[in-house]
Amino acid sequence: MVTVKKSAKVNATVTDPVPRRKVGSAAPAKPTARAARRPVKPVQEAFDARQSAPAKASRLSQAVHNKVVVVTGASSGIGEDCAIKLAAAGAVVILAARTPEKLQESVDKIKAGGGRAFAYACDISSMSDCDRFCQRVLQEHGHVDILINNAGRSIRRSVAHSFDRFHDFERTMQLNFFGALRLIFGFAPTMLQRKSGHIINISSIGVLASPPRFSAYVASKAALDAFSWCAASEFADSNVRFTTINMPLVRTPMIAPTKLYDAFPALSPDEAAEMVMKAVVEKPKRVATALGLVGAVAQALTPGISEFVLNQAFHLFPDSLAAQGLDQDGASTGGLPINPMEIAGKLFSRVFSGVHW
Ligand SMILES: NC(=O)c1ccc[n+]([C@@H]2O[C@H](COP(=O)([O-])OP(=O)(O)OC[C@H]3O[C@@H](n4cnc5c(N)ncnc54)[C@H](OP(=O)(O)O)[C@@H]3O)[C@@H](O)[C@H]2O)c1
Repeated sequence: MVTVKKSAKVNATVTDPVPRRKVGSAAPAKPTARAARRPVKPVQEAFDARQSAPAKASRLSQAVHNKVVVVTGASSGIGEDCAIKLAAAGAVVILAARTPEKLQESVDKIKAGGGRAFAYACDISSMSDCDRFCQRVLQEHGHVDILINNAGRSIRRSVAHSFDRFHDFERTMQLNFFGALRLIFGFAPTMLQRKSGHIINISSIGVLASPPRFSAYVASKAALDAFSWCAASEFADSNVRFTTINMPLVRTPMIAPTKLYDAFPALSPDEAAEMVMKAVVEKPKRVATALGLVGAVAQALTPGISEFVLNQAFHLFPDSLAAQGLDQDGASTGGLPINPMEIAGKLFSRVFSGVHW
């Protein structure tokens, strides 16, 4: 498993564990007491950590040069950044999304940089569209080496405001689970035949941390994660790998309507795409941030405390007016704190409720 520190730059190097030799000195510098206490990292890990950006780029090139890579949701945000990085590393990139004009813009950007890219308009929530897409890609490119299931939709709405909105759950399942699954079913047979393939699912930190108000979204992502863990054990000896990326918050058009997130730290699409590129090269089973793993461990070991904390958060950050069905355009924040000071104020008043100042 690859763990990514959420706050740190994704491609930041780790501290050199080996004391450096002083310039001009003949003998190696004596390790300090502190350095001696530090655990020595395996040689390979230290080597990886020291790799420069060009070395990383060349590892990516080795992994994807002339490979056929499908990226869904490739006309915006994380998907577009992935497509650009993959094409720059020599991959033949197949971009899929619904809007042909936006796709063409992404293809033009890639071609302007000398990359190879092909746009396919496809609504991945439509199973017949998925089938047509898979057939065309296989006819025109022969096979797919890497499938990046990235297209997705998110909904932030509490369960109490969802009782008459069953379609929220159907829509998220349709795209985030059934659409992604249909593409796996379309491309996996040739991967198994060729004994080579990598399926990367862009999941969410929410699957690890179970945040309130995301039941529809998280359930659909969790379904794909669960499928992939089961399928991975069936495909392992055929050299067809699965990677689940429990992506943290990323500043993309997807989160723009939720003004609350303006006050939260988030990865840039470039940093998120770096996480995906690392997965392409290393093929880990899961990529997660430390925060996501802490959430999962807390839920497993102290479920009661975890539920209490999440319940506090649930009351701290209410549904937006749009989610409550009160303001369809979502322009008003409806009492949602929108900057760090407001969040701190709300947190303070919640923790010290009943205390007079
Ligand atoms: N942003 C975050 O904070 C965050 C955090 C965790 C996980 N993720 C996941 O990361 C993935 C990418 O999100 P993003 O933030 O980069 O989103 P984004 O910037 O909104 O881009 C979404 C992309 O998906 C395409 N798309 C949407 N519905 C589609 C459909 N039915 N069929 C085909 N393509 C469709 C969009 O193009 P069209 O509209 O033209 O179809 C667009 O290219 C999603 O799976 C999301 O759940 C995001």
